[in-house]
Amino acid sequence: MAISLQTKDVRLPIAQAHAEDFAQFCLTRMGVAGHNLNILFINDEEMTWFNKNYRDKVGPTNVLSFPFSEGADAFIENLPVHELGDIVISVDTAIREAIEYGQAPEYRLNWLIIHGILHLMGYDHERGEKDARKMEDKEQEFLHSYVRRRKMTHLAINVDHVATIRQARGINSPDPVAAAAICEMAGASGIVTHLREDRRHIQDRDALLIRETIKTKLNFEMGANKEIIKFALNLMPDLVTLVPEKRAELTTEGGLDVAGQMKKLGKTVEKFAAKDIPVAFFIDPTSEQLHAARDIGATFVELHTGRYCDATTEAERHHELQLIIAAAQEASELGLRVNAGNGLDYHNAAPIAAIDAIEELSIGHSIIGRAVFSGLDQAVRDMLHIVQQASK
Ligand code: PXP
Repeated sequence: MAISLQTKDVRLPIAQAHAEDFAQFCLTRMGVAGHNLNILFINDEEMTWFNKNYRDKVGPTNVLSFPFSEGADAFIENLPVHELGDIVISVDTAIREAIEYGQAPEYRLNWLIIHGILHLMGYDHERGEKDARKMEDKEQEFLHSYVRRRKMTHLAINVDHVATIRQARGINSPDPVAAAAICEMAGASGIVTHLREDRRHIQDRDALLIRETIKTKLNFEMGANKEIIKFALNLMPDLVTLVPEKRAELTTEGGLDVAGQMKKLGKTVEKFAAKDIPVAFFIDPTSEQLHAARDIGATFVELHTGRYCDATTEAERHHELQLIIAAAQEASELGLRVNAGNGLDYHNAAPIAAIDAIEELSIGHSIIGRAVFSGLDQAVRDMLHIVQQASK
């Protein structure tokens, strides 16, 4: 393992896998992917000790780098093992700084990781203004190219609608578990299911079997209620998307009011963070909801595209699209990752897929509906083609 991440007496506000992915991305781009790197996440108390003992400074700092070997020695080609060294990061300080600078915890931690790595590679902002600028430019380059790397928009397919048909008959087919497998074979990069409190479509057994059998990622949509939270913590999906849930609605009607229930939703995010499960909030594209989502530790937001899809005039559709574009951009500046969905079909998905900051579309009804006529495999491939063409 080239990168070793450890936490000591502290809990990371993001999934450890995301920090590791970013560190790996940096090493690969710098051409030192095979070098060993240790990252230790600690609290302020321990950082105070490090700062005193290694730099004779009082109080904690955000990041310290300990190169394995000074300067070029670290890159001598014929050594059997290539060591970059150690980076120590105070998570307490990172979170404090994220709040102070209005950044998402993931963005702040990534900044500290790249800052630490650049020090290991010989960059040093303390050498003077020119060096400081050079280091800062490199940091920005890595942070931005990491976001851009995610650019080819992914397609995740919501298979609830297959379960809806099955439940109408009360028998065991068509099976959403089989549908998930076909979607993956046709190129989907994720499967979405929404286990509703009233179990109107997806059943517990569906979610469990889909989790067990899919090879891509499971995005588990849910309302923030006690019973479903318990189920999800046991299910261990790759992402939890929190949505508002009303018994009488036909589909999720509006976005979640995160700003109006920060305390309750913050506690829910904490429960999932403790198990390293990232959380997305399904929200309307407004600045207020984005800030609220960022403030309580969301990793993703899923922007509600319903109003854009339901628009009845071109002017209205254009207006709704602009709101989504602006929200996606703002989310990304706040350090949030962005998905989008609800109501997207073969005619309206392309402009959403083309938005730079959007990583993944979550689409269900239109694909399952088309599958009735074309078969599920073809229906997925047709949508994938649209999404990929638009996001090239
Ligand atoms: N995203 C969320 C949060 C949803 O609730 C739904 C509907 O289940 C979708 C995406 C998919 O919407 P549609 O079925 O209209 O494509």
